Amino acid sequence: MTIPVRQRRKPFRMSLCQTPESTEPLVVAIDGPAGAGKSTVARLLADRLEIPYLDTGAMYRAVGLLAIRAGLSDPLGEAEQIQVAALAGEHIIELMSHKGVVQVTVDDEDVSEAIRTPECALMASAVSAVSGVRSALVPIQRRIGLAHGCVMEGRDIGSVVFPDATLKVYLTASSDERAMRRQLDLQNKGIDTSVDEVKQQQHQRDLQDTSRADSPLHVARGSVVVDSTGLSLDEVVERMLSELQATSKDCLDTNGENTIRSRNYGELVRRRSAPIEEESS
Ligand code: DC
Repeated sequence: MTIPVRQRRKPFRMSLCQTPESTEPLVVAIDGPAGAGKSTVARLLADRLEIPYLDTGAMYRAVGLLAIRAGLSDPLGEAEQIQVAALAGEHIIELMSHKGVVQVTVDDEDVSEAIRTPECALMASAVSAVSGVRSALVPIQRRIGLAHGCVMEGRDIGSVVFPDATLKVYLTASSDERAMRRQLDLQNKGIDTSVDEVKQQQHQRDLQDTSRADSPLHVARGSVVVDSTGLSLDEVVERMLSELQATSKDCLDTNGENTIRSRNYGELVRRRSAPIEEESS
């Protein structure tokens, strides 16, 4: 299978690494703290690579929403943690991606909008520390990601969900810049809040996400660390594309064939590549 990549600034050619027996898909794992720009960058990158964009935080937010609806509050006591794990297992949480738009459903109810509040973000962070919640969601994430390849973002993608991802990126930015971006984001969604308030909530979430016992946020082994402070979105995406190209640096273009060896997906294979799609405008 070949991923045609639209040319924008510089030629970029990439195809999936496949062995005759296996067809491991291209997986780009993006982790990092809240507000680092993961969602926007992951969406743009997925668009360039023409593979689905998957936001795993949305699934934890969905469980957070269930917890709020069940009347639970942060911090969760022992009995509440058991209750939250049961909620994650009992309800059918699905994540879909279509043209960069992520839709999350709980038992067929579309909760994509409802999960985007600051309250839900904080509760998502609390429920994500519960091992029973993680063990319910991680297998679903693996299954969805492996179906067509993906750019998947979260906190443990490169460390737990896809430790052998084709490319692993840890995306970060200064806390001031992260808070400003998130505040703007919320404002655009009609949620009124100050940068200071966002910064304080972000700090609380980062602390919870990095200090929990199960799958804490950290720079996974083999990750490329990208600090997006002061960089434009395009610059970050271009950086990732060149990292991806470097990861598959055994790519040769000879006699109309691409030879790709992915660092993580094994055997060298030769495949005839499809022409690169030119962007129409
Ligand atoms: O990316 P986000 O802000 O929507 O994520 C909400 C919370 O979910 C975040 O504070 C931590 C948790 N999360 C996680 O623990 N693991 C992931 N892979 C994704 C999110």
